[in-house]
Amino acid sequence: MFPSKVNRLIQRLLLSFKRHRYGDAAMGKSSSDSCSSQLVLGIETSCDDTGAAVLSETGAILGESLHSQKEVHLRTGGIIPVVAQQLHREHIERVVQEALDQSGVDPAQLSAVAATVKPGLALSLAVGLEFSQSFVRRHCTPFIPVHHMEAHALTIRMLHAVSFPFLVLLVSGGHSLLAVARGVDDFLQLGRTLDEAPGDALDKVARRLSLIKHPRCSTLSGGQAIELLAKDGDRMRFPFKTPMGQTYDCCFSFAGLRNQVNMTIEKKEAEEGIERGTLLSCVNDIAAATQHTVACHLAKRTHRAILFCKANGLLPSLTPTLVVSGGVASNQYIRKALGVIAEATGLRLLCPPAKFCTDNGVMIAWNGVERLREGKGILHPNVDVTYEPKAPLGVDLTSQVKAAAIRVPSIRMNIS
Ligand code: KG4
Ligand code: ZN
Repeated sequence: MFPSKVNRLIQRLLLSFKRHRYGDAAMGKSSSDSCSSQLVLGIETSCDDTGAAVLSETGAILGESLHSQKEVHLRTGGIIPVVAQQLHREHIERVVQEALDQSGVDPAQLSAVAATVKPGLALSLAVGLEFSQSFVRRHCTPFIPVHHMEAHALTIRMLHAVSFPFLVLLVSGGHSLLAVARGVDDFLQLGRTLDEAPGDALDKVARRLSLIKHPRCSTLSGGQAIELLAKDGDRMRFPFKTPMGQTYDCCFSFAGLRNQVNMTIEKKEAEEGIERGTLLSCVNDIAAATQHTVACHLAKRTHRAILFCKANGLLPSLTPTLVVSGGVASNQYIRKALGVIAEATGLRLLCPPAKFCTDNGVMIAWNGVERLREGKGILHPNVDVTYEPKAPLGVDLTSQVKAAAIRVPSIRMNIS
């Protein structure tokens, strides 16, 4: 390393640690000075999106770029990890460069680089981590390893004034969990999926229905396709059973629902005398009923989590907040269902706009900003970091929630 590079690195590390220990005022800087001086590059590659963004300390997005692999995986009927890895490799350099170019920020000006290191697909995580580590070493920039789900949970704080603690429901293609966010790296896990995630279940139902052949759905993810078709469907036509009705905890299960839907599809194919792979005439109704059941299941478990938090004083009495994020949270019907629960329990419901619900580089950069502000998890670029495909979020309270066995009053889900 050249001496000038070493000096620059030492200065940057000292600045972030001093801020943490003494605050900006003690360093004789106004908050606007610090806003202009702290810049973070975020890099996301945990699944099938290659994302990068440059953020200021206040959360201003100075540059962003995203490459989605969705269309490739739609054609192959699901994510093939080696294909995802190859596509990340092909696009990561361009995506990061685009974000930097758009921001007009030189790598030497960055206060830190934040990258997703857990949880996710091993082969995908490896590409982002390898790229980030070589980038920070080349430019002598501190490195911030990021937990993908923490990043989803905290994105809302970039957009709204939300103080800790708040309740968060994270629903995506890979995850389904309920947690209390108490701090940047302090979470209590109240519930998680026991089998598959809601986005995964919706993607599989969409594949089973061959929605890729539907003229309105050919470029949409499974969840998006189900939402679109459900608008013209009758959800009452197929009364699927809401999962886990007799289990009084906050965990989720979607495999059984998918089984119910598959059996209905098979029956309808036989009735209509059509082969698997042909579009059913009742496809809108199946989409509507599936979406409704997913929404009711998410709403019920979230309702119980709210009651558990209230009983245990886990949320503030002033403006208690429910945050919903992750790819599935961009579904308007599901948001409305959660809105019904929030209203009934007196919580404020906040959801990031769709582009921040699905995976992106901005949420990773924001997590870097939050950690930089608090001086948490900032590493010297030469520290070796490993990725972790499996990484639970927070302290596990699921058995305490189950033991509390809270009965949830029934609420009518009249959603238009
Ligand atoms: O958060 P995300 O981009 O990636 C991870 O899984 O981490 O979420 C993608 C998932 C996919 O399963 C997709 O079908 C689902 O989110 N999704 C939706 C909608 N948009 C995306 N599910 C329901 N309704 C939507 N509008
Ligand atoms: Zn995600």
